[in-house]
Amino acid sequence: MFSNITLIEYFGCFGEAASAGRIDAEQVYIGQLAGLYEALNAGTTTSIDHAHHTWSDETPWAGLNASIDSGARVFWSYAFHEVANYSIEQQLVNYRDIVNAAPQTDTAVELGIAFDSFDNGSVGPETIASIIDLAKEVNVSVLTTHSGGGVYGNDNSSTTLQSLGMLNTSIPVVFSHALYVTLRDTTLLQSTNQYVSITPESEMGFGLGRPTSNMIIDQATLGVNTHAFQSSDMVTQARQAPRSNPTSVVQAFLLATRNGGLALRRPDLGVLSVGAEADVVVWDGTSTSLLGWLDPVAAIILHYNVGDVEHVLVDGKFVKRNHKLVVGDYGSVNSRFLEASKRIQEDWRQIPRPALDQCTSAGAPIVHPDQVDVTVGDGTGYGQLHV
Ligand SMILES: *[C@@H]1O[C@H](CO)[C@@H](O)[C@H](O)[C@H]1NC(C)=O
Ligand SMILES: *[C@@H]1O[C@H](CO)[C@@H](O)[C@H](O)[C@H]1NC(C)=O
Ligand SMILES: *[C@@H]1O[C@H](CO)[C@@H](O)[C@H](O)[C@H]1NC(C)=O
Ligand SMILES: *[C@@H]1O[C@H](CO)[C@@H](O)[C@H](O)[C@H]1NC(C)=O
Ligand SMILES: *[C@@H]1O[C@H](CO)[C@@H](O)[C@H](O)[C@H]1NC(C)=O
Ligand SMILES: *[C@@H]1O[C@H](CO)[C@@H](O)[C@H](O)[C@H]1NC(C)=O
Ligand SMILES: *[C@@H]1O[C@H](CO)[C@@H](O)[C@H](O)[C@H]1NC(C)=O
Repeated sequence: MFSNITLIEYFGCFGEAASAGRIDAEQVYIGQLAGLYEALNAGTTTSIDHAHHTWSDETPWAGLNASIDSGARVFWSYAFHEVANYSIEQQLVNYRDIVNAAPQTDTAVELGIAFDSFDNGSVGPETIASIIDLAKEVNVSVLTTHSGGGVYGNDNSSTTLQSLGMLNTSIPVVFSHALYVTLRDTTLLQSTNQYVSITPESEMGFGLGRPTSNMIIDQATLGVNTHAFQSSDMVTQARQAPRSNPTSVVQAFLLATRNGGLALRRPDLGVLSVGAEADVVVWDGTSTSLLGWLDPVAAIILHYNVGDVEHVLVDGKFVKRNHKLVVGDYGSVNSRFLEASKRIQEDWRQIPRPALDQCTSAGAPIVHPDQVDVTVGDGTGYGQLHV
């Protein structure tokens, strides 16, 4: 639907605050499940979910249940955020209920926390402190935050987290994007061994710019943004690296595999070795795109497509075998997903585009990019728009 949506319009119409109260537990459950199957099918075994579907007492459970049911390894990170009709106080109670019930015990799912307002925003210092205290008390498996900086305003940076006493503990902290990471942020990330997650497809597609994040490639891993806009396939993210950075295909491969494990302080993830978790991807070297391969890493990074993923195991269990997901009744998931997504698409079409301010919250002016048309004539090249 989103072929003509800028990120700023997305936030206003469809982002986590705008979606509160519009997406029900069934839609969250089946969207999460189908989305994780999409990732497993592509060979993505582990993800940190910045789970911002925390809009009521039910929707977080729906997303967590789907993560558990998917068979994927998910660091499901409950987002605390200011949304309509569900206060952060209520979210804190809900999270404690989930922690106490611990439905993820003995599965490949672990609990984390996601929070974007470390730079205060409107939440105030007490709320920030209560979230930090909770993370430490529960000893969450990961803490994650969107870190933009520059024209995007709030940095949620390593410098901020250090000042709050949350950077240099045993809890891994993952900073998404870190587009404007500073020298001080960089040295702090290195000295405390924390990671940023770069999402090349969305950062380039949205024109977010990456003024400095290439400077922190040694403390980086790869991610995908909201997959309303692009693939959720990690190799497609890694493929951007060899050309846009001075990195080799081997480094691109490590960004998508081993560094993801290291970002979680889990040296047993993203590697094949004795004692590691048995998360395994097997590519079919006789496929049309890989046929004739010599260097397997170069073949995957430069030539692979998702159809080449032959087997996927998570935690020693097959989730894809002989090119097919082996996840129970995928047909019924498929029809539930189509029903749920149709309702969301119809609802989303009713939402008017927001009136844009002159400036971002950081004070940068908002300008409208030129539109170009590949075919000659009036309004010819865009085709039908769906939202
Ligand atoms: C895309 O959306 C913008 C509104 O955000 C609108 O001004 C523009 O005309 C749209 N482009 C096309 C080709 O319809
Ligand atoms: C919040 O609750 C009020 C009162 O029940 C309701 O009118 C409003 O639509 C709700 N807002 C959202 C975003 O769910
Ligand atoms: C989630 O699963 C639990 C069982 O672990 C069940 O009691 C609960 O109803 C489910 N909630 C949702 C919203 O799916
Ligand atoms: C948050 O606000 C408090 C005062 O309300 C201030 O002391 C603190 O420096 C602020 N923190 C950040 C990270 O801006
Ligand atoms: C938190 O959990 C990690 C990993 O399970 C463990 O290494 C660490 O010692 C724990 N920290 C505390 C304070 O319990
Ligand atoms: C940091 O947190 C704010 C909320 O305070 C959020 O709106 C923003 O998106 C985050 N910053 C960036 C630039 O990612
Ligand atoms: C992090 O903590 C260790 C001790 O646990 C200390 O030696 C180190 O200087 C701290 N680093 C930073 C950047 O705070």
